[in-house]
Amino acid sequence: MALDVAALSRCTRCSLSETRTRVVIGTGPTDAVLVLVGEAPGRQEDEGGAPFIGRSGQLLFRLIEQEVGLTREQCYVTNTVKCRPPGNRVPARNELEACRPWLTDQLADLAPRVTLALGLTAAREVLGATLAMGAVHGRPRHLGSGTGIATYHPAAALRDPALVDVVRADLAVVRRFVEAT
Ligand code: URA
Repeated sequence: MALDVAALSRCTRCSLSETRTRVVIGTGPTDAVLVLVGEAPGRQEDEGGAPFIGRSGQLLFRLIEQEVGLTREQCYVTNTVKCRPPGNRVPARNELEACRPWLTDQLADLAPRVTLALGLTAAREVLGATLAMGAVHGRPRHLGSGTGIATYHPAAALRDPALVDVVRADLAVVRRFVEAT
């Protein structure tokens, strides 16, 4: 089903709707080759209404420009849940379930050729990953009519700079698939 943006903008399917400022739906061209899926909006995203506009987004798009050769404006960017969990906690199972139909419709509309899941929550939701990130990152798999890949969340790379090189290597894999399209 096509994503009903108007309905999503006033969604009350879970209690995150009681504390959010804005529903953060996604940004970027709907024909983007590369679609990024993060976990959930943080404080800046909740206020600004766009995904990854804070510190982790700065790192993310610096790495994507360097390793994939795409700018933020060339990527479509969204999250597994569209409203900020208070205190930036990991979204609860019921919140992920409530938001899943929106993400499913969104990804069906976008039909991405390459999907990059950022962090374990997105890897589980988008790729059906069942193992730890250490076991799933950088391994391309079929996803719809394209390819899905997971890497560490940029916030994890901000906390542990040793992960930056791991993310770079995963993005080199992303580049191969982006260039093959
Ligand atoms: N972290 C995420 O996972 N998504 C955002 O949009 C911002 C921070």
